[in-house]
Amino acid sequence: MTRAVTVRIVPASHTSSDERRDLVALVNAAFGAHRWLFPDAEATDDRRFMEDTAGAELIVLARERRPVAMGFVRPEHDGLYLGMVAVLPAAPRRGLGTAVLREAEQIARRHGLGTIVLSTATELAAPYWTHHGFSIVTERAMPRGSSGATADWTLVTMHRALPPEK
Ligand SMILES: CC(C)(COP(=O)(O)OP(=O)(O)OC[C@H]1O[C@@H](n2cnc3c(N)ncnc32)[C@H](O)[C@@H]1OP(=O)(O)O)[C@@H](O)C(=O)NCCC(=O)NCCS
Repeated sequence: MTRAVTVRIVPASHTSSDERRDLVALVNAAFGAHRWLFPDAEATDDRRFMEDTAGAELIVLARERRPVAMGFVRPEHDGLYLGMVAVLPAAPRRGLGTAVLREAEQIARRHGLGTIVLSTATELAAPYWTHHGFSIVTERAMPRGSSGATADWTLVTMHRALPPEK
């Protein structure tokens, strides 16, 4: 039987330290996939998580109260910024990342914003977002060594207009 996934939208400042502990673990597990390019990247911790999500709302998907996917959203002048999208590595390609994006779209609508904006690297999640219809707005070549990268990489911002409401 498939266990139901629940969705919780919560201001980051309203999370408990217990809840953040699980989210920090989720983020570190998901972003561990980037280690081939950024082997020295520090794992996040409660302080960094709170700094990175300051003023943002969290989208948390949970199964039996354990978070399996998350992202944060923050309105910006040119759209709703979607950051830190993380899916439990044990549950890949089951639509959880897409479900986070769908929630972000609903939030953007509520804020009257027509665009979702995010940033990533060409070598990391850009193909995933391209698959979801995002296109590159800005592109910045980053040399090997920047942010501890083991190879040259490209920092991109990407955006996509909201799809029409069904
Ligand atoms: C990227 C990530 C969020 C994807 O989440 P996911 O739940 O595995 O992806 P989904 O199940 O929603 O994928 C939906 C679709 O995207 C496709 N897809 C998944 N990963 C992909 C990839 N790396 N490149 C291209 N397409 C991809 C799937 O095949 C699927 O296609 P379909 O709908 O046509 O069948 C997840 O792998 C992750 O947490 N990665 C590490 C952290 C990260 O890079 N986050 C993004 C930061 S901007």
